[in-house]
Amino acid sequence: MRTHYCGKVTAADLDQIVTLNGWVHRRRDHGGVIFIDLRDREGLVQVVCDPDRADMFKIAESVRNEFVLQMSGKVRRRPAGTENANLTSGEIEVLCHDIQILNASVTPPFQLDDDNLSETVRLANRVIDLRRPQMQKNLMLRYKVAMAFRRFLDGAGFIDIETPMLTKSTPEGARDYLVPSRVHPGQFFALPQSPQLFKQLLMVAGFDRYYQITKCFRDEDLRADRQPEFTQVDIETSFLNETEITAIMEDMIRFVFKEALAVELPSPFPRMTYAEAMRRFGSDKPDLRVTLELTEVTDAMQDVAFKVFSGPANSGGRVAAMRVPGGASLSRGEIDEYTKFVGIYGAKGLAYIKVNDVTKVNEEGLQSPIVKNLNETALRTVLERTGAQSGDLIFFGADKAKVVNDAMGALRTKLGHEKGYVTGETWRPLWVVDFPMFEYDEDDKRWTACHHPFTSPKDEHVDLLATDPGACVAKAYDLALNGWEIGGGSVRIHRADVQAKVFEALNIGAEEQQVKFGFLLDALKYGAPPHGGLAFGLDRVVTMMAGAESIRDVIAFPKTQRAQCLLTDAPGEVDEKQLRELHIRLRQKVETQVEVARD
Ligand code: AMO
Ligand code: AMP
Repeated sequence: MRTHYCGKVTAADLDQIVTLNGWVHRRRDHGGVIFIDLRDREGLVQVVCDPDRADMFKIAESVRNEFVLQMSGKVRRRPAGTENANLTSGEIEVLCHDIQILNASVTPPFQLDDDNLSETVRLANRVIDLRRPQMQKNLMLRYKVAMAFRRFLDGAGFIDIETPMLTKSTPEGARDYLVPSRVHPGQFFALPQSPQLFKQLLMVAGFDRYYQITKCFRDEDLRADRQPEFTQVDIETSFLNETEITAIMEDMIRFVFKEALAVELPSPFPRMTYAEAMRRFGSDKPDLRVTLELTEVTDAMQDVAFKVFSGPANSGGRVAAMRVPGGASLSRGEIDEYTKFVGIYGAKGLAYIKVNDVTKVNEEGLQSPIVKNLNETALRTVLERTGAQSGDLIFFGADKAKVVNDAMGALRTKLGHEKGYVTGETWRPLWVVDFPMFEYDEDDKRWTACHHPFTSPKDEHVDLLATDPGACVAKAYDLALNGWEIGGGSVRIHRADVQAKVFEALNIGAEEQQVKFGFLLDALKYGAPPHGGLAFGLDRVVTMMAGAESIRDVIAFPKTQRAQCLLTDAPGEVDEKQLRELHIRLRQKVETQVEVARD
């Protein structure tokens, strides 16, 4: 039905007769001449309809936006001065001699090039939204990226093996999506939070190198970088250690960026321990494009009169300073805004010192409501450690370490980008390594696995499992890119004695082990090879590459922040008959809850 894609007709086709199929993007009536921008997935081309051919012109007059047309005509150069450098077809136009309406369209709910559409309108009318050139580009980029992953992995000897969707709970620790069993009254499948346990089984089964681009399901609070169903590039390999696994994975990421974006990422990617990342950036996925850093001052605040600082400093919390070069010029209003911002992360305030004259370590040189409550030694330590100069501002966070890290880490990124404290680089990948094995859950008063309970401790830390779980470091690694965690994984435990010690540290008893993970533990007894792997978040990688704001913009049919599909209206109620078949009686008609999502 066509000779060319609309977006692919160029000056190389001059004087040729072309036939095009596509949608009417815009129709303009220019005093007797009608211009139709015809659109397909490759882009737009301008088609000119002259009134000399009366039959054709009559049809051109009747078409409206989003009609589907077949148009034939001769390619000619656009008159000088009317070229459009933004289009591949921008030097030419097609002089129409034949037009067929293949299908009409009702008036679309919005103009495709309206830049101010609400996401609700876009998601409710996703089909029309997906026709927008930006969305077409995003999804084509996604395909390119997925293919690049596949090509690399295939070339490196990884094979794609599918794993079940109807399964048991996996160990990632989010809430499960459950599927009731009709055949087994009162029993449920869980949709996988990842293929974690199955890929380990495949290693025990001897497949050596596995990958899969697959859906994962997690019922968790949603944000711009989280969806309830998302896609992982999931990978596992046998007989490679931590260094070898991360090396091959970063080769893969470099390959994907080169193939899909023609971007050369640095080699090798820098590495940083988790402890250093938290200390300097308050985050385990720091955006290294931002030059601001946190400075540890906890030890210097133990004896100060200011309780806001000495409290956390003496009770296992953290006091961190952040020097903002030239920041003394920040206005009161700006500081108030930033104070409000850190409040989102639980910070109770945002103390600051304006360094007017660094040589005067008192209320004369240092302008701040808190200076009178900090002694001179503490002030000198802050100035020295931060390297502050006259004209700078120093922000402080003081609280439990988690609150300080979350709040000051987020402030660092926000302020850095808003006020231009950035390196100017486009891509800053970073391996974050040496994660702790466990974190302490204050609510439940017990240790939980930072990654999952199958992650191996460092060989030299195995004895700490019993004596000092908090000090035990894991063979776990994350890949951060520009402030997002795009992938994470670990070397797994392949020895039964080490696995038993980890379960002990986590206080998971024999019975619970067997119920939850029995099939994996049993398999590990049959000659499990040393193995490890990781998973990349495909949606996140593509979002960053596309320069999109939310992962919803690179998923064809995503859910909203409230985990709904506005297009199909899912989730929805089901028939009483279906419920009965599934042996389910609803406890009550649930009132719709409105919760405010933080993005
Ligand atoms: P993890 O839980 O770190 O590891 O997930 C791996 C990667 O998946 C992406 N990701 C998400 N993307 C979008 N929406 C979500 N809700 C979401 N949750 C995670 C992130 C993350 O880095 N089984 C382990 C991997 C392993 O150990 O091999 C796992 O799932 O980019
Ligand atoms: P206050 O004594 O409550 O008036 O606080 C004095 C200064 O300390 C103000 O600038 C507050 O924003 C700041 N502040 C209060 N609590 C904290 C905290 N936990 N961390 C950092 N700064 C704080």
